[in-house]
Amino acid sequence: MSYKRITLSQFLMDGQHRRGGSGRFTSLLTDIRTTCKMISHEVNRGAMAGNLGLAGTENVQGEDQKKLDVLANEIFLHMTAQSGNYAAMASEELEDVHIVHGASGRYLLLFDPLDGSSNIDINIAVGSIFSILHLPDGVDCSDRSVFLQPGVKQVAAGYAIYGSSTMLVLTTGEGVNGFTLDQNIGVFVLTHPNMRISEDASEFAINASRSRFWEPPVKRYIDEALAGTEGPRAKDFNMRWVAAMVAEVHRILCRGGVFMYPVDVRNAKQGGKLRLMYEANPMAFIVEQAGGMAITGRDRIMDLQPQGLHQRVGVVLGSKNEVERIQRYHREYD
Ligand code: AHG
Ligand code: MN
Ligand code: MN
Ligand code: MN
Repeated sequence: MSYKRITLSQFLMDGQHRRGGSGRFTSLLTDIRTTCKMISHEVNRGAMAGNLGLAGTENVQGEDQKKLDVLANEIFLHMTAQSGNYAAMASEELEDVHIVHGASGRYLLLFDPLDGSSNIDINIAVGSIFSILHLPDGVDCSDRSVFLQPGVKQVAAGYAIYGSSTMLVLTTGEGVNGFTLDQNIGVFVLTHPNMRISEDASEFAINASRSRFWEPPVKRYIDEALAGTEGPRAKDFNMRWVAAMVAEVHRILCRGGVFMYPVDVRNAKQGGKLRLMYEANPMAFIVEQAGGMAITGRDRIMDLQPQGLHQRVGVVLGSKNEVERIQRYHREYD
């Protein structure tokens, strides 16, 4: 094994020197790095630490919280408040924003502390997702509307995946880089520099149990893929569904494909299933930075003007040519 490895800290410092920066990103991401290591540790200990199962409470989304949803949320809140970089935070697990009293920071942090909750008890990959926004000058962060900035305003975003290994995948708007946690020395090492999503793909991820609720353009795309070499696409497709957005996006970054959680007739009233501010926007930023596309089905996700902290949205993301095709099917239908 080579010891000439680049750690996350070195990578962030290099970027700082290259840009002649103030250490802003280094500092913003340091607490998140520690947070993800701590959550990884708790996920790994699983049943031994009594971390599996329900917490017995419900979140603002109307979901039953798992013990790890609650624990990961507490770790995020506590660890990212330390540096004073973040003036306020918003989370899937909190109805309202969390103000960091006394912090002089000019950044806002939004997160999904534990993504893929239904996988916790069955020892399958879960993750964490985060998005960082700037707090505009002269604005008070107790006003929750300061969080309602479109995805194009994100200054950084990323996710941690707690899978067969733990990884942190990041963008600060200069491409996407992946770091693997060396559990023995507790350090993230750059293992996936400059991750790129292939433009073409023949693999899709969608919860097909909802097919009877799909809109015609989604049904058309999936039917054509399922028809394989006999159909209009004239090639066979493969299918995957992990039930954790983090794992689906990670797979797409590694080998291409499309992930869809579309608006359908059953979830249309809520606007979809996935949450714009701490699931769709950060993942859209990463996917676009890796050369892919992320849309609602019709529109670019990062252009949407958010209306609420917990707003839901349709999500179609991944390999550019496939996502463009799905967008075209929607336009042809409308
Ligand atoms: P969370 O666990 O943070 O609430 O998110 C779960 C999301 C997402 O990660 C995943 O793609 C989707 O829900 C799975 O939905 P199904 O249960 O319909 O498969
Ligand atoms: Mn949830
Ligand atoms: Mn989630
Ligand atoms: Mn979650």
